Amino acid sequence: MTDLAPGALTTTVADALRAGTRAPSPHNTQPWLFEVRGNEIDVLLDERRVLAVSDPDGREAVLSCGAAVLNIRLELARHRTACAVSILPERTRPELLATVRVGLGRGPAAEDARLADAIGARHTNRRPFVDTPVPSVVRHGLLRAARAEGARLVLLTEPAAFDAFAALLRRADHVQRQDPAFLAELQAWSHHGERRDGVPLTAGGPRSLEGTALALREYVGAAGRVAREFERQPLVAVLTSPGDTRRDAVRAGQALQRVLLTVTAHGLQASFLAQPLEIPSTREELRTMLGGTDHPQAALRIGYGHPGAQTPRRELHEVVRGLDGER
Ligand SMILES: Cc1cc2nc3c(=O)[nH]c(=O)nc-3n(C[C@H](O)[C@H](O)[C@H](O)COP(=O)(O)O)c2cc1C
Repeated sequence: MTDLAPGALTTTVADALRAGTRAPSPHNTQPWLFEVRGNEIDVLLDERRVLAVSDPDGREAVLSCGAAVLNIRLELARHRTACAVSILPERTRPELLATVRVGLGRGPAAEDARLADAIGARHTNRRPFVDTPVPSVVRHGLLRAARAEGARLVLLTEPAAFDAFAALLRRADHVQRQDPAFLAELQAWSHHGERRDGVPLTAGGPRSLEGTALALREYVGAAGRVAREFERQPLVAVLTSPGDTRRDAVRAGQALQRVLLTVTAHGLQASFLAQPLEIPSTREELRTMLGGTDHPQAALRIGYGHPGAQTPRRELHEVVRGLDGER
């Protein structure tokens, strides 16, 4: 690759950055900024987009940026372009989460190029799934996806573990719903489709019937909807990391995204169950429940279902520093 003129992006880099923006993020805050210098892409945390109430230490925002890093890596692989990633390359700049060196490092794996095809189709699906169990070959694929990025995926297939998680989820969901500051934050990031960030009404699911096992987060507009029956046997998976530092979160974000894209590539759907991970005491309880060593980073509900709706993203000139004035 040749060096870029200031303000210009090659097609490969522009495609990689656009893929980066398709990463999931809490309330679709899109808490990333990118800077392109020659053959290097810096991925930065946009502190102004960290959710002050539900994510005060920015852990989920950093996970999201990690997910964006994986999308960038995979899209480069699709363009048959190698890359090398340094996580937190500058000790004095903790907001600089990763630098991707384009054209360096090992050649891209064919599997990564294939997984890139799932980036555009992946979305959070908050609708009911059908009661078809996830086959064990797919489950193993999900476990491998997490492991490939240095994380662990724990499938809560034992009834006791599932019930304990469901109880924790209900409790955390209740705590958040009683908190006016949490509700105000949720409201501020919900809308009717007029913005390129936040969660549009169309991405919300129906209300669940009384007695449904998993308490899904209700976005604005759900209260007025007809209640529907949800699947009886959802597959719940918790992604964990060996440590709980910012570096661990960047790596866990890449693992999360590899798991989600593997879900999509297998024709499955997923949604998040983040409530117990957003309250320190329930996150600690979950950690104990899982054996007390690794740190829970994200929880997912996975199953078969009809595709839901895509959410919008901001455009490149809004997230790439130097393309449209300084950010
Ligand atoms: C760390 C994290 C936590 C999330 N928590 C929830 C959640 O508890 N409930 C939910 O419905 N969606 C949750 N989401 C999904 C986001 O709302 C979603 O990624 C965002 O709106 C963008 O939509 P998309 O995933 O369909 O592209 C979470 C996403 C991330 C990355």
